[in-house]
Amino acid sequence: MSANKAQIEYWNGPTGEEWAKYNDQTDHSLAEAAAAALRLAAVRPGERVLDIGCGAGAASLSLAEKVGPGGHVTGVDVSRPLLALARSRAKSPNIEFIEADAAIHAFPPDHDLIFSLFGVMFFVDPVSAFANIRKAAAPHGRLAFVCWRSVEENEWASLPYAAARTVLPPQKPVHPHAPGPFAFADSIRLRNILGEAGFSGIGIEPFDGMMDLGGAPQGAGFQLTQLMGPTARALRNADDATRTKVREVVAEALARRQAGMEGIRLGMACWLVSARAG
Ligand SMILES: C[S@@+](CC[C@H](N)C(=O)[O-])C[C@H]1O[C@@H](n2cnc3c(N)ncnc32)[C@H](O)[C@@H]1O
Repeated sequence: MSANKAQIEYWNGPTGEEWAKYNDQTDHSLAEAAAAALRLAAVRPGERVLDIGCGAGAASLSLAEKVGPGGHVTGVDVSRPLLALARSRAKSPNIEFIEADAAIHAFPPDHDLIFSLFGVMFFVDPVSAFANIRKAAAPHGRLAFVCWRSVEENEWASLPYAAARTVLPPQKPVHPHAPGPFAFADSIRLRNILGEAGFSGIGIEPFDGMMDLGGAPQGAGFQLTQLMGPTARALRNADDATRTKVREVVAEALARRQAGMEGIRLGMACWLVSARAG
């Protein structure tokens, strides 16, 4: 049984379904980070690419276009609802999606680029997971991914959560290294993990952007504030009355933040991470 069983269940439960439902909004909201990650990856025609935690495959599709007919992209994920959506969007023969735990799956060792858009922070044992992922790279292969910095630096996470906390019961503190979106906030820890997993030439650079949540506080973007980050975690076992109260206070907080602007744009703070497999 996989050590990542809890995350696999999580991404195949209501969260995976909701992510699939609001995928267009997610793709839109993460667009600035996706563009930065793709620039970092600098993928070339003919390359073989592995996209870890590909979700519904937006980045995989962009990568497949860039590698062209002579290249190939494999998206790997554990979430069946998101993989179903990814497969329905893939039209070219140079892309495939596989259902597997990237921490333990035996990938062919021939990838020029190992890429991820927010899909590598969910491993119970990140050193062993990245050591396994490194085996998927050709000897000259490279790693390029984007992950979140801390909750405090990410307004899209901290602003809704500050509002939600006013109506939530006291929350158990979350270990900062626990598998989840913010597990790699500490760049020293992240560098050590990648080094111990055998990567070299590790680069970790900040990237600051904006997450566009769209117009009205009750719109699709509003759903994302309860689908990702600490508010999503707090709502996992909440009853309907608590959910309703959280929706109200988060909508109010977003409306206040929106004041005078056309849409809601909240700050995002990421690490752009690169390394060599050899
Ligand atoms: C935050 S989502 C990002 C999805 C996609 N890359 C995007 O940007 O829309 C994280 C993804 O990682 C996947 N994931 C979590 N643990 C995984 C594992 N052990 N192996 C493969 N994928 C995993 C989840 O199922 C989920 O689709």
